Amino acid sequence: MAALLEVEGLVKSFGPVDVLHGVDLTLQAGEVLALVGDNGAGKSTLIKHIAGVYRPDGGEIRLDGEPVRIGTPGQARDLGIETVFQDLALADELSVGANIFLGREPVRRLFGLIPVIDKARIRSETDALLARIESRIPRKARTVSRLSGGQRQAVSIARALYWQAKVVIMDEPTAALAVMEREHVIALARRLASEGVGVIYIGHNLLEILEVADRVAVMYRGKIVLVRNAKETSQQELIKFMTGFEETAPSDSFAA
Ligand SMILES: Nc1ncnc2c1ncn2[C@@H]1O[C@H](COP(=O)(O)OP(=O)(O)OP(=O)(O)O)[C@@H](O)[C@H]1O
Ligand SMILES: [Mg+2]
Repeated sequence: MAALLEVEGLVKSFGPVDVLHGVDLTLQAGEVLALVGDNGAGKSTLIKHIAGVYRPDGGEIRLDGEPVRIGTPGQARDLGIETVFQDLALADELSVGANIFLGREPVRRLFGLIPVIDKARIRSETDALLARIESRIPRKARTVSRLSGGQRQAVSIARALYWQAKVVIMDEPTAALAVMEREHVIALARRLASEGVGVIYIGHNLLEILEVADRVAVMYRGKIVLVRNAKETSQQELIKFMTGFEETAPSDSFAA
């Protein structure tokens, strides 16, 4: 069976700056695949192609074996790809529920005729959803602007769960979080994977990466230079590849 998501030979330049040099990456359903690499290695640029933010200059992206063109973030979402950014793309002035249902609001008909947004349904579904992910977002403080970083992450993840995303991309989800919130986000990433979602998890904290990931891919200067099972690698090995120490050494480490 085809992998959930395959990236093959992805190439991208911004003007004269070559950022991606032929990236190959495979994501299976039900796994957390961590993506690590030094600042500027190209991690965010890579995932923005999967999220429909950038279009590639070359190469291919396949979902369930089918080549896809992901022209906009909306198309990515329609294909079942949700992205969770640290500087979360949430609408601050709206409620948690409104954010989860943004652009896909349930509708009911007044007098069987006039379509209106079904706010009661949004409220009850949101309550059920937050209970399901054991998120302690106080009912009163339900405007997103009042939420902490971790709670904002939880809202994004709740949205991915509710809309049954197949692929969830988390770009440095814990970068600005307190320890407790970090643990909750890690648990949510594992939870998504256990429900069959393929999760791409970008991070810089290698201890955390080795805790959350099934597999780890290392990116160096616009290429994937190592893919390993998390259980079969170490911080030392990851750092070696992240810093290009292995660049010129003969290696069979490119195999997945
Ligand atoms: N829109 C753009 N125009 C020009 N150059 C860009 C653009 N976006 C990214 N770059 C360059 O591409 C390279 C990769 O950037 P990217 O943000 O993908 O790195 P990253 O691996 O996510 O780094 P970090 O860990 O710091 O988030 C950098 O050298 C960056 O300056
Ligand atoms: Mg980045």
